[in-house]
Amino acid sequence: MNQDGSNGNGSGQKQFFSDWEDRRLDLTGKAAVVTGAARGIGRATSFAIAQNGARAVAVVDQLEDVAGFAQQANEHLGRDVMVPFQGDVTCAEFRRRVFEEMRASHGAISICVPAAGFTADQLAVSVNKETGEMSIYPQDLFERVLSVDLTAPIFWAIETVASVARDRHENSLKRWNPDERVQGCIIFIGSVSSAGNRGQVSYATAKAGLEGAQATLATEAIFHGVRCAIIHPGFTDTAMVRSLGDDFIAQHVLPQTQLKRLIRPEEIADAICFMIRNSSVSGELWADAGWHPVA
Ligand SMILES: NC(=O)c1ccc[n+]([C@@H]2O[C@H](COP(=O)([O-])OP(=O)(O)OC[C@H]3O[C@@H](n4cnc5c(N)ncnc54)[C@H](O)[C@@H]3O)[C@@H](O)[C@H]2O)c1
Repeated sequence: MNQDGSNGNGSGQKQFFSDWEDRRLDLTGKAAVVTGAARGIGRATSFAIAQNGARAVAVVDQLEDVAGFAQQANEHLGRDVMVPFQGDVTCAEFRRRVFEEMRASHGAISICVPAAGFTADQLAVSVNKETGEMSIYPQDLFERVLSVDLTAPIFWAIETVASVARDRHENSLKRWNPDERVQGCIIFIGSVSSAGNRGQVSYATAKAGLEGAQATLATEAIFHGVRCAIIHPGFTDTAMVRSLGDDFIAQHVLPQTQLKRLIRPEEIADAICFMIRNSSVSGELWADAGWHPVA
C-alpha cells in the first residue's frame, strides 16, 4: 500500500494525472491581450501565448508594424490567432474598443500582459559645472513615463478583470470557487530598475509602482478567479536596450550579469508563459540573468 492509500496502479495514479492538468491554467481557447506587441518582449510574449494554444491574442501597439507582425505570425502558426490593434495604450477609448471588439469576436479577454513601455533617462538633478545652473528632470516627461509605464498597464489589467467578471456575471457565476479552473491571469512587466537605477527616476518609479498594483490586484481579482503576478526582466536584447549603445552595454551592463550576454526576448516570453500556466506562482519573478549592479 502506498502512502496515498492507493496500490500504485489504481486511483492514486489516475488522480496524479488529472491533477497535473487541473492545476494549470489551460491557455487553449482563451483570449489574451498583449500591449507593446510590435517588437521586443511584447512581440515574443504574444507569439508564445499563441503557440501555447490561445484562441485569440489582441496584439496592441502604437507602431503600424503590429499589423505586419500579426499577419506573418498567423501565416507561421497556420491559423488566425493574432488580432492587431494600432493605438496609444494611454487612451481609455482605444482600450475599451480593443476589449469590446475582442469580446464580440472571441469572447472575454482573460489573459493580459501589458508590456508597452519606454524609458526617458535623465538624472533627477544635474548641475552645469560652469554656470552652476541646476537642471531638474522635466515634470511633464515624468508624468508621461508614469502614464505609459504605470497607469496604462494597470488599466489594461483592470479591464481584463472586468471582462472576466462580466462574463461570469452573465453566466450567473458569483465568487470564484477553487474547484473551478483558474479563469485568467495578468502578468505585469516590472524591471530590475524597480529597485533603483541611476538616471531612471521616472522609469524606476513606474516599475516599483507596478509592484503595489500587482500585490493589490492579486488580492482583489482572485474573487473572479484571476491571478496577478509581476516579472522583473534584466537587460533584454530589444530596441529599448540597444538604444543605450553597444559601448555602454559592453562596459556597464554585461560585466554585471552572470551570463555575460543580454537576455533574449524569447526567454522572458517563456518565463511569462510559465507564470501564466502555473497557478502556484504568485508575486514576483526575477528573470535578470544574475544582474548585480554596483551601487
Ligand atoms: N528590454 C529590457 O531590458 C527590459 C527590462 C525590463 C523591463 N522591460 C520592459 O519590458 C517591456 C517591453 O520593453 P522592450 O524592451 O520590449 O521595449 P521595445 O521598445 O522593444 O518595445 C516596446 C513596445 O511598446 C510600444 N509602446 C511604447 N509606448 C506605447 C504607447 N504609448 N502605446 C502603444 N504602444 C507603445 C512600442 O511601440 C514598442 O513596440 C517594457 O514595459 C519595458 O519597460 C524591458
